Amino acid sequence: MALLLGLDVGTTGCKAAVFDEAGRTVASHTEEYPLYHPHPGWAEQEPEEWWQGTIGAIQGVIASAGVDAGEIAAIGLSGQMHGAVLLDDAKRPVRRAIIWSDGRTTAQCRTITETVGADRLIDLTGNPALEGFTAPKVLWVREHEPENFERARLLLLPKDYIRYRLTGEVAMEISDAAGTLLFDVRQGRWSDELLEELGLPGTLLPDVRGSAEVSGQVTPEVATLTGLAPGTRVVGGGADNACGAVGTGVVRGGLVAVSIGTSGTVLAHADEVRIDPQGRVHTFNHSVPGAYYLMGVHQAAGYSLRWLRDTLGIEDNGGKRAYAGMTEEAAEVPPLAQGLYFLPYLQGERTPHMDAAARGVFFGLSGIHNRAHLTRAVLEGVAFSLRDSWEILRGQGLPLDEVRITGGGAQSDVWMQILASVLGVELVRTSATEGPAFGAALLAGVGAGVWTSIPEACEATIRPLETIEPGTRLAERYTEGYTLYREFYPAFKDLYRRAVGHS
Ligand code: XUL
Repeated sequence: MALLLGLDVGTTGCKAAVFDEAGRTVASHTEEYPLYHPHPGWAEQEPEEWWQGTIGAIQGVIASAGVDAGEIAAIGLSGQMHGAVLLDDAKRPVRRAIIWSDGRTTAQCRTITETVGADRLIDLTGNPALEGFTAPKVLWVREHEPENFERARLLLLPKDYIRYRLTGEVAMEISDAAGTLLFDVRQGRWSDELLEELGLPGTLLPDVRGSAEVSGQVTPEVATLTGLAPGTRVVGGGADNACGAVGTGVVRGGLVAVSIGTSGTVLAHADEVRIDPQGRVHTFNHSVPGAYYLMGVHQAAGYSLRWLRDTLGIEDNGGKRAYAGMTEEAAEVPPLAQGLYFLPYLQGERTPHMDAAARGVFFGLSGIHNRAHLTRAVLEGVAFSLRDSWEILRGQGLPLDEVRITGGGAQSDVWMQILASVLGVELVRTSATEGPAFGAALLAGVGAGVWTSIPEACEATIRPLETIEPGTRLAERYTEGYTLYREFYPAFKDLYRRAVGHS
């Protein structure tokens, strides 16, 4: 039986997980790395730290799996989307990567929209210019750090940088290329028109491969460093959201994946290209050939809980115990946290406001509120934000028959009960618990010939485990709560703008 290795170059760390052909997890290992906020609203990471994290994660997973590395048939890569990794002619990063949650590029987004035209941009790329995407980050570097831009020869995304380090091959794959704002999503290729209009050389961009296509092999040097077998195949892989969808079987119409990782996403599979004319949800190419997905994105889902944990100084003990303690405590607090609301805009917000200047708010604090109330308000605020995406997706005319959950937040029964009640839908938890790393491993399996297609891989390995039903009373309370929640952003919008100069 072949083994498959999935790698997820995430925002908090790199996860490496080994699976068998039945989709069972043999072992999983995560190495964390820092996230830098040099200014409020900015977010950067060091590509070398991703690489060191990747080496540690692979070494760790091979050791704990207790398998011979030669049994690993292929590796699939997934990772955080949109981060700009600019490399010089020796393929060294010219600066830190500016990552997906960075909000510094509002001026560059305006320039792109004015240059290309708002409607045409949405028509070509499936999306409006948003701070999170890659192209505005490249323009920011050109404008603010011309010496770095001059040295840049190549643009890669986070997981593609790791591909380069593992194999020496330079490539991107389609689901991640779609998030650069330089990709023609209908044609499935780089948009020459866009590159020309933005004055960016086409030589900056690597070849685009299919998600399940073999894109390189582990080099002998990397094999020595990591314990992998030299020559192990590495497939294209996918954006973390595409891989999260594959890993929960969201590869056909009617299925929806809700993820709570650092970001929160609500993703609906689409067999054909379909674009929200208002650009509130993104349209990207899926890892499944010829398919797409529509997705609402929330900048600070798991990030908000992590921020609360760290800010309150709750002992980490490896992360999971702290979260379990926090959510158990929050379960004792009544719904709507005795009038306390949380707006999870710690890193600005995308869906539905598309506003990098938005900021987090605790609203309604009183002397009665304690740590458990703060946690409850965070869990509920994130769930309300996900409902914003759900409502927009409901208006897109796609079938939304079954909602499957993924990401670290999906492990919490308390949070999922709140989410099911806020959305008013049943949530399905599947047998897959390793998130995007599992989807990446399935792509690796298709590339290695274990399965003939991505849907076949999903069929062979993913089983629904349990459903989480909305609570009737809870859903009623949350309908009231969501009505109020929706009024906060418009009320604060101008205040955010006035406060931004103070940061
Ligand atoms: C999606 C997005 C985030 C990152 C998180 O557009 O920016 O979900 O992919 O890793």
